[in-house]
Formats: sequence, C-alpha cells, structure tokens
Amino acid sequence: MKFKWTIGAALLASGAAAMARDPQALYLQSLAATCAACHGTNGRALAGPGVSALAGRDKDDLVRRMNAFKSGARTATVMRQISLGYSDAQIEQVAGYFASQRP
Ligand code: HEC
Repeated sequence: MKFKWTIGAALLASGAAAMARDPQALYLQSLAATCAACHGTNGRALAGPGVSALAGRDKDDLVRRMNAFKSGARTATVMRQISLGYSDAQIEQVAGYFASQRP
C-alpha cells in the first residue's frame, strides 16, 4: 500500500512538472524541431559542409531569408517547399527562437 502511494505521488509530481512548462515554449521548440534534421538541434549545425547554422543569428535576417525562399526570389533545393509550409507568424516565431539560441 505504501508502495502504491509512492508511485501515485511520483506520477502527480511529474504531471505537475509537465503542466508547469509553458505551452508556448513547447510550441516553439516543436516548431524549431522541424528544422533540426538539417540545421542541427536548436539551430546549431553539425560540423562539416552543408547546411548553415541558425542559432544566434539576427531574427530579421532569418525572416528575410525565409521569405525570399517562400517568394521564390532566392533559388533553393529544399527551402522553397519547406518555407511554403509555414505561415508568416510561424516564420517570425521560429526566427525569434533561433535568434535567441546560443550559437
Ligand atoms: C531537409 C533539410 C532542411 C530542413 C528540414 C530545413 N532546412 Fe533550411 N536549409 C536547407 C538547405 C539545403 C538550405 C540551403 C538552401 C537550399 O538549397 O534550399 C537551407 C537554408 C536555410 C536558410 C538560409 C541560410 C543562409 O545562411 O542563407 C534559412 C534561414 C533556413 N534554411 C531556415 C530553416 C528553417 C527556419 C527551417 C525549419 C522551419 C528549415 N530551414 C528547415 C535545408 C533544410
């Protein structure tokens, strides 16, 4: 019986911890995670040739680059299709997220 209570208390505590996490922060993390496969976790690109890092870069510059892909002004292999999948608000949000990350 004492054992069951301990488990119950542990579950309650972990549930409370999950709820304490800011839903907006979780949303931003999941948005940024859609870029992680190519640009690295939290925008810190893996070493080597290829895709540029996004962490710690200027927010407005990232927005401009995304919009250039979206409009087709900048040619791209994959970023045109990817950028088309995000609303203007989401581009602002994800750019802000990467700008606030440690490079
Ligand atoms: C499938 C791999 C892939 C994913 C996923 C991806 N990117 Fe990219 N990204 C690229 C490649 C490759 C380039 C170079 C341009 C091109 O060829 O498309 C690039 C270029 C960029 C650039 C321009 C960088 C510069 O220095 O000019 C930005 C900004 C960018 N991506 C943002 C994002 C964001 C934000 C996401 C998530 C919403 C994302 N990318 C998801 C592959 C990816």
